[in-house]
Formats: sequence, structure tokens, C-alpha cells
Amino acid sequence: MAYERKNIEAMAAYIPGEQIDSPDIIKLNTNENPYPPSPMVNKALADCDVARLRQYPPPTAQNLQEAIAKKHGLNRDNVIVTNGGDELLRMAIATFAEASESIAVARPTYTLYKVLAAAHGCTLTSFELNENWEQPENYASLLNDSGAKMCFLVNPHAPSGTLTPIDRIAELADAFNGVLLLDEAYIDFVDPDVAYDSAQLLKDFDNLLILRTFSKGYSLAGLRMAYGLANPSLISPLMKTKDSYNTDLISQALALAAIEDQQYALKTWNKVRQERQHVTASLRQAGYIVPDSQSNFVLASVPDNQSAEDIYLALKKKGILVRYFKNEDRLDDKLRITIGTPEDNQRLLDALAAIQS
Ligand SMILES: Cc1ncc(COP(=O)(O)O)c(C=O)c1O
Repeated sequence: MAYERKNIEAMAAYIPGEQIDSPDIIKLNTNENPYPPSPMVNKALADCDVARLRQYPPPTAQNLQEAIAKKHGLNRDNVIVTNGGDELLRMAIATFAEASESIAVARPTYTLYKVLAAAHGCTLTSFELNENWEQPENYASLLNDSGAKMCFLVNPHAPSGTLTPIDRIAELADAFNGVLLLDEAYIDFVDPDVAYDSAQLLKDFDNLLILRTFSKGYSLAGLRMAYGLANPSLISPLMKTKDSYNTDLISQALALAAIEDQQYALKTWNKVRQERQHVTASLRQAGYIVPDSQSNFVLASVPDNQSAEDIYLALKKKGILVRYFKNEDRLDDKLRITIGTPEDNQRLLDALAAIQS
């Protein structure tokens, strides 16, 4: 006897990247920040008073909401704090899409979108990105013609790492009739010279919902903290569908310490950007095709005469994990490689050279 709803029975679960916790493994497969969180996070943890856990936490993480609003030049009612970005994605679907309505994406993209849409009973409509990983020219018309209620756009794009310019985001938000969920999980790694700032678009577009996370930029993937930025007209309904106490007291304190130490975070982002350049150049020299990434990972097409799966397995044997998307359209000749510390990256590059020779 199957008790689950028909759509749950029919759907496949999300497959996370392998999580192996061993000092002998170089983990370049799930786009974590290779540097530890700010020392201020350690201090905040040490300062946590266990006696306070007797009480429920502030329901909207007010102190953190305020710090986030300040960082982005917004107000508290523009911010919702969530238990990871994945929770915000799930809540956004539950809030803005009826079951049976359609959510649009440009493929390939973050594979969780499909899973969350299916769990809610929504259909996923997908449009193929062009060879430069750009959305179709007339994307807004395609979205509107398809009747999509929401569009999920990840920027920088995952898994290619490429960035859609801010003007293009503004055009899309303007022309699309539904909610544009702009997933900026990797935005902290964008070069500052690009001057990308989507928060300033919120004054013009009431259908824009921006996702940010502490998982990547602030080295806190284990904490499960993220937030959404939008006009109050989108934030208020989201507040209705969140769990009453969706983030815990300790996580609120640690995330606050992290966001208040921008100087430390900036240093890790800069180191990742520098290494991204080095890894990209070295892979290209070794015959891989690598688009310019603005993220903390690169997507490398393996040289013509080689198999991405074989290289993935050979690296794994040497204790180096990268991400291989088996049977994914356009990705099965590619490896997605997280930018690690200079030492980890060098071990990866040396291992690739040894495998190739
Ligand atoms: C594109 C994208 N969006 C959102 C997330 C969610 O991140 P988290 O739930 O850790 O905040 C991830 C995590 O890998 C991601 O790759």
C-alpha cells in the first residue's frame, strides 16, 4: 500500500553531491567555501548561552534581518531569513504557485528546482540555454506565452558559473508576468568590477525575489541559513508559509556574526577569485574548455578524446572529489570543479596531468 500523494510516488528524490568527511579527501564537488568561517563566528558560538535555548528563538530573526537590510540598503520588511536557500525555494513555490501551475527554468540548471516543483505538483517548463549559457533572446515572451507562474533564474549560473548582466535581469523582471526568483547562491564571488547589485532593482520591480545564502560566501553550509530580499508585497505572504520558528537561536547568532564581519568574508572571496583565474587558465592550457566563471566553481569540458566519467572516477581514486552529472543533458562530457585552496587546486591540477599522461 502506497500512502504518498501520486506526484510524490512518481517523482525522483534530489541527489546531493557526495558528502565524505575525511582529512584525506580533497572535496571539490559541492561548491563549499574552502576557508573556515570568520573567527567572529567562533566567538559568537562560545558566547551562546545554552540556558536561553529554553525559550523559542525570535520568529523572524529580527537582529539578523536588520543587519541584512543594512548591508543591502533596504528595510527589515524587505527581508525574510530562512533555514537555508533550499527552504526559501520550497516556501516560494508553496506561496506563489498553485499545484498544477508551471514553473519555468532555463536548462541546464540547479537540479533541485525540478524536485521541489514536482513535490508541490507543479509542472516544470524548461527552455534551453544557448551555447554560451545565455537565456533565449526573447525569454520573457517565451515565459509569458508558456503561462509560467514563476521563473527560477540562477545567477551566476549553475553549473557553468557564467553571469547574466544586471540589465538583462532588469529587462526580464520588467517583461515577465510572474514572480522572478533570482537565485544568487554564488553572487559573493562575482568580481567587484562588474558592479552587479540586484537589490537596487527592488525599488522598480515588485515581482523580483532574490535568494542569498550564508552557505557559500560565508563558509556556513553546515549551519543552514539564507535569506530572501523582495518588496514587502512578496515578503508578507512568504512570512505566512514559513515555519513559525524556522531558524534557531544559535544559527541566528552565528549568521549575524558572519555578516557583520564583511572584511573577513571579502578576503575569502578575493582568494577564491584569484584561484579561479589560475585554475581556469591551467585547465585551458591542459585542453579543457572552460567558460569564464564568476562563481566559486568552473565547468570544464574534457578534451575530445577523453571521458569525463573516467576522469571523475580516476580523480576519486586519488582522493579528489569533483562533480560529474551522469546522464544530464549537455553535461556528461563535463566536470564541475569547486575552487579550493591553492594547495588543493594544485593537487587537482597535478592529478589531472598524471591521469592524462
Ligand atoms: C544554485 C543553488 N541555489 C541554492 C542553493 C541552496 O543553498 P543552501 O540551501 O545551502 O542555502 C544551492 C546549494 O548548493 C545552489 O547551488
